[in-house]
Amino acid sequence: MKDANANAEGKKAAGIAAAARVSDGQRVGLGTGSTAAFAIAELGRRAREEGLRIECVATSLQSRNLALDAGLTVLSLDRVAELDISIDGADEIDPALNLIKGGGAAHTLEKLVHSMSKRFIVVADPSKLSETLGTKFRVPVETLPFAAAYVTKALGELGAQSVDLRSGSGKDGPVITDNGNIVLDARFAITDPAWLEAQLKSIAGVVESGVFARVKPRPGDCLIGEGAAVRIL
Ligand code: 5RP
Repeated sequence: MKDANANAEGKKAAGIAAAARVSDGQRVGLGTGSTAAFAIAELGRRAREEGLRIECVATSLQSRNLALDAGLTVLSLDRVAELDISIDGADEIDPALNLIKGGGAAHTLEKLVHSMSKRFIVVADPSKLSETLGTKFRVPVETLPFAAAYVTKALGELGAQSVDLRSGSGKDGPVITDNGNIVLDARFAITDPAWLEAQLKSIAGVVESGVFARVKPRPGDCLIGEGAAVRIL
């Protein structure tokens, strides 16, 4: 489980640095989570104070509301096929910039939005860096509710060491995503992220996994906030 309140200074520095890479007239994908929230706030500040004109799409109800509150224009995702740039957090980042995402259960729309984007900027703090994906974070698997038992069995056959239905806080029972599905958190020893991503996607009943090995930032586009400084990977 992630700690949304940890390393706020570094997350803010990374979010501000990412927002500085957005140019006037661009279409921008907005990620979800506490680090992406700093980027959204900074884009709102730039729109108000610098006259930055952008159009955004959101990856969750949370990022949509943050963007609207910040005064940004938010387009309906179903009307957009291409973006200039998108910004998002991550739960685990390996040296090849493969990611695990979905700590906020928003990874399905996040993968869609980053797939349609020419440039994908990742913002994070150093606690997200990892030599091998899966050692710090389990893989979130958004699953159709009726497929819970089948997908749990299929994940086990794929090598998952454990599979847990994600439960909510502030609500009894499972987390229900913005898409009306459940999330299974699967612990894997990951040797080949791209292979695992493809295998997970091929299981009937799986909507999307939080492994981002095909859609990932290019070198130079992963911003790690360490205190007030930003390290570029
Ligand atoms: C949401 C995500 C988030 O980007 C990820 O969980 C990182 O969040 P935070 O910036 O709060 O640590 O993938 O589904």
